[in-house]
Amino acid sequence: MRRLSTLSAFVALSVTTIRVVNAALYQSIDELPLMASAKEAYDFIIVGGGGAGATLAGRLSENPKFSVLLIEAGADNEGREDLMMPSKNLEVQADTSYIWNWWTVPLSGVNNRSIEYKSGHVLGGGTSINGMVYTRGADNDYDLWGKVSKDSKTWSWKGLAPYIKKHEKWVQPPGERNISGQYDPRVHGYKGPVGVSLPWSVPIEFDARALKNAEIQDEFDFNPDPNSGKPIGVTWTQFTIGAGERTSSATSYLGLDARKRPNLAILVNTYAKRVLPTPGSSLGLRKDIRTVELVRRNGEGPSTTVTAKKEVILTAGAIGSAKLLLDSGIGDKAELDKVGVKSVANIHDVGKGLTDHFTASLTWTANGTDPVINATESLDLWRKERIGPYSEPTGPRHQILWSRIPDNSPVLKDYADPSAGPNSPHFEITLSGGGSSIFSFVVLLTPYSRGSVTINSTDPLAPPLIDLGFLTHPFDRAALIEGIRQTKRFYSGLAWDGYVKDFLGPDPDADPSTEGQEVFWNAMEWAEGPIQRRRRRREQEAGWSTNGARQEA
Ligand SMILES: *[C@@H]1O[C@H](CO)[C@@H](O)[C@H](O)[C@H]1NC(C)=O
Ligand SMILES: *[C@@H]1O[C@H](CO)[C@@H](O)[C@H](O)[C@H]1NC(C)=O
Ligand SMILES: *[C@@H]1O[C@H](CO)[C@@H](O)[C@H](O)[C@H]1NC(C)=O
Ligand SMILES: *[C@@H]1O[C@H](CO)[C@@H](O)[C@H](O)[C@H]1NC(C)=O
Ligand SMILES: *[C@@H]1O[C@H](CO)[C@@H](O)[C@H](O)[C@H]1NC(C)=O
Repeated sequence: MRRLSTLSAFVALSVTTIRVVNAALYQSIDELPLMASAKEAYDFIIVGGGGAGATLAGRLSENPKFSVLLIEAGADNEGREDLMMPSKNLEVQADTSYIWNWWTVPLSGVNNRSIEYKSGHVLGGGTSINGMVYTRGADNDYDLWGKVSKDSKTWSWKGLAPYIKKHEKWVQPPGERNISGQYDPRVHGYKGPVGVSLPWSVPIEFDARALKNAEIQDEFDFNPDPNSGKPIGVTWTQFTIGAGERTSSATSYLGLDARKRPNLAILVNTYAKRVLPTPGSSLGLRKDIRTVELVRRNGEGPSTTVTAKKEVILTAGAIGSAKLLLDSGIGDKAELDKVGVKSVANIHDVGKGLTDHFTASLTWTANGTDPVINATESLDLWRKERIGPYSEPTGPRHQILWSRIPDNSPVLKDYADPSAGPNSPHFEITLSGGGSSIFSFVVLLTPYSRGSVTINSTDPLAPPLIDLGFLTHPFDRAALIEGIRQTKRFYSGLAWDGYVKDFLGPDPDADPSTEGQEVFWNAMEWAEGPIQRRRRRREQEAGWSTNGARQEA
């Protein structure tokens, strides 16, 4: 049960070795060449090195005519074994140097609880620390973009599928087990930079029961591939893991080849405070904004500005980009006046309409034996061959049920269906079991609730106020109850006889009284915050470790 900790020595060594190669990676603004901070040294300045920013920096700098500066608040991802080893996902999410350490404001829909809001703070952003489930979404979702943009040729499933394939590199799982029938080879790409695979471990009896259940229960079907644009059904989970290592936007688009490019500079450990308009250039709402104000990540020392010849691109995430605009005076003028931030452009929408997925975490007891893995052997296996239990993430396991609220549900009579169409799931229901418990997350993918990002200080280094608006719309509560009931139905199928024991809740049907419902809603928490901590604690107490397998040594 004790963790091995030979990691730090390994990590320090790798970092030193790789730094020599990275001529274009600067550890702080103090290292940025003097000429760089001089006027207009770069064509593009990209703020935020996460999923979007690292990708854009990599793709733009493929053209030697463009010079690109990418700015990231967190550290470099290179040479860090914990970011490479898939089983470390929960640990890196708990490492305060890899996340922004944000908390939400008290959320009125969930008893005024503040929730930890994890957001990646390292090159690669969320893709460097997330659970790696490869999820493209439904064709209906993309087609809705086409309707909204009135450009269905470009912004549609059909229009974008070639690009989705282009970025993917589907590979055999570590160990090369037989995966025939567990994915559809026709819908994948094989030549892109983003490694995607099924996991190393072979299907277990739990998975066979889930498939059997999909076969015999009318309500559910098996779907051979969740990423065909039509995800509904019981599916085998695909991960952004290539050859046993995490793939992130940084490993995919900012690898050693990209770092050798003379036209790409990557600046880490640097905080973008504001974007600044070029004096005298405004034309109503159209401002010429190509300057970024930077300071060391710890906020110490002088600020510096860098100006782009062509464009500044904000890719700091749903929270970070909105906050940066507000700090820059771009947002609702009346609200910014109250904070004392001088208005640069009065745009009401900035920071509004924040949408996130509330998640219910359900537990059952089950008639199984928790698997045992040997930590020494697993670490050795992964380090030598990139296979074994440590080549897989901790958490959701082999299968996910993508599902919709049943058509005859009263919820869809009381509220207009918020999904983009019949192929768009309302729920993502993870299926994890095999041992003495079953864990399922029921994720509400189509909430009506909306929140906001605001600021509360003229200091750009102060944290944002994040209001997720969770469960402030009655549809979301009704829908979540539907999702939980559906999951209960799934596990009550005949295929589970002799394995599934008791439902431990939270159960909306346990006690219909007002008090009972209060107990139920009190038990509902959010997956990325307290739930994961609670679950980890539960797993630790049960002697589990990564991969939901009991660990000894
Ligand atoms: C949440 O906080 C608000 C504002 O302080 C208060 O009016 C409300 O009663 C609180 N709600 C709960 C459930 O405690
Ligand atoms: C792989 O599995 C499929 C389906 O179970 C089977 O038909 C096929 O023969 C297997 N291939 C090999 C090489 O074992
Ligand atoms: C784990 O594996 C190592 C190396 O093979 C072995 O020495 C050790 O006894 C094993 N531990 C357990 C608890 O089986
Ligand atoms: C806003 O900032 C003030 C002063 O720093 C602080 O007292 C207050 O609690 C903050 N409000 C919120 C909602 O965080
Ligand atoms: C538990 O599982 C074992 C075999 O895996 C089976 O023999 C036994 O009947 C099951 N117990 C219950 C209560 O279903």
